[in-house]
Amino acid sequence: MGFTIRDAADLDEPSWLRCRALSFLGSSYYDDVKTGRTRFEAEAVQLIAVVPKPAGMTTPGDQEVVGILDVELWEQDGHPVATIDTVAVHPDHQREGIAGALLDEALARLRDHGLSWIDAWTREDAVATSWYAAHGFVVDQTYLHVYLGGDEQRADPHGDAGFEAPFGLGAPVKGFFHGPDEDPGPWRERFARVHQARRYLRRLDITSWPEDPRLAALYDLENPGTWDHDYFRALAHRVGARAVTDVGCGTGTLAIGLARDGHEVLGLEPAPASLDVARAKPGADAVTWVHGYADALPGGTADLVVMTAHVAQYFLTDEDWADALVHLHRHLRPGGHLAFDSRNPAVRDWERWTPEATRTAYPHPEGGQVTAWVEVARVEDVTGETDGEPRGPVVTHTGHTVLPTAHLAYPESLRFRTRAELEQTLTRAGFEVLDVAGSWDGSPATADSPEHIVLARRLGR
Ligand SMILES: C[S@@+](CC[C@H](N)C(=O)[O-])C[C@H]1O[C@@H](n2cnc3c(N)ncnc32)[C@H](O)[C@@H]1O
Repeated sequence: MGFTIRDAADLDEPSWLRCRALSFLGSSYYDDVKTGRTRFEAEAVQLIAVVPKPAGMTTPGDQEVVGILDVELWEQDGHPVATIDTVAVHPDHQREGIAGALLDEALARLRDHGLSWIDAWTREDAVATSWYAAHGFVVDQTYLHVYLGGDEQRADPHGDAGFEAPFGLGAPVKGFFHGPDEDPGPWRERFARVHQARRYLRRLDITSWPEDPRLAALYDLENPGTWDHDYFRALAHRVGARAVTDVGCGTGTLAIGLARDGHEVLGLEPAPASLDVARAKPGADAVTWVHGYADALPGGTADLVVMTAHVAQYFLTDEDWADALVHLHRHLRPGGHLAFDSRNPAVRDWERWTPEATRTAYPHPEGGQVTAWVEVARVEDVTGETDGEPRGPVVTHTGHTVLPTAHLAYPESLRFRTRAELEQTLTRAGFEVLDVAGSWDGSPATADSPEHIVLARRLGR
């Protein structure tokens, strides 16, 4: 990261204006040129990204502005709301993560403002729209921006497009209109410059897909397979567990299945939207649902804790994982079992997580189609070795879901721990590893098996 983020100051104005103009030049806002830095009447966060100024540049100061983010704060129906007024990155510094870093900093500063969402108005430019989608924004409203005249060729055979000049003035030369987006065809035929204006909205109280009610409602349709749940139900029977806890139970299918099998079941889940789906299912009354994280679990009550569909990979740092194991150990009775699955990093699954390879389409229960795919954003190595072997990476991907009414995109990071990392951390947390299977047929794990399906036992009293 060769840039620094800070508040914009008056001295930055010439460089700020240059960055904004150059950034907008390659977009449909090419003619939106300002001659002074934006000043807001209400409260605003006005950030810039700067780099040391190249030799020979004549604007004042010793830094060049290469990124701008202005966010204005206002009130709607008594609720605080934030709107992105400007986001711009100098063309020589695009694809360096500047806009994302500016947004992260603005959101960090706005954290205590009690905002439910942040929005932005933009047009259909591919760079802007894919940036909004990759940062958790969804399209919420659209309408048209229609231009008449100016540098754009007038495609209107009637010349004045049917609007009159005030008395005494000549024929209108330029016009700008807002139009409905339901049927843009006639406007596009008649005028050379028509843009779709879009309101992008990012919920700040929803940061992951399990928290979004629209996606929680589709989870079971997208994940119809039962091989993992069948495995853990058979295992609960095999180890003779009475009380079973499903940590990260999501939409509750396994928890309800375990209750049907006769176990006393607790389903723990941090995402309220997923828990709502679970609670509404037939058989849900037989399960005790707990909203929260592992620290919310009571001590010494479970015979078996399960974490399925790779919940264990959501604990990204060594500290988070160690902390979770402390709570799971505490929650288990002495001799109780812990069972979970984690993908084998040696198989490098993420290399196949491309939009082409992962694209699925299915009918939405309320009509229309759902299209979904994932795209890897970054793979970050974790430093150090375990038993002389490199540790597995943290992989961040964006999951896209296009619904009939919205394009949702949520980033998600998963840690891929090696078998040695899993075994060492479990041993340190007071567990004895009994078995590591490599796939759902229960066969022992090998160097290239897809999964590590771990069964461990709580040691100590
Ligand atoms: C892929 S889903 C799996 C859901 C369910 N176990 C299943 O088999 O379908 C991952 C779940 O883990 C939950 N989760 C994420 N972080 C968690 C944490 N720190 N503690 C507990 N659950 C977590 C998510 O909210 C989500 O519901």
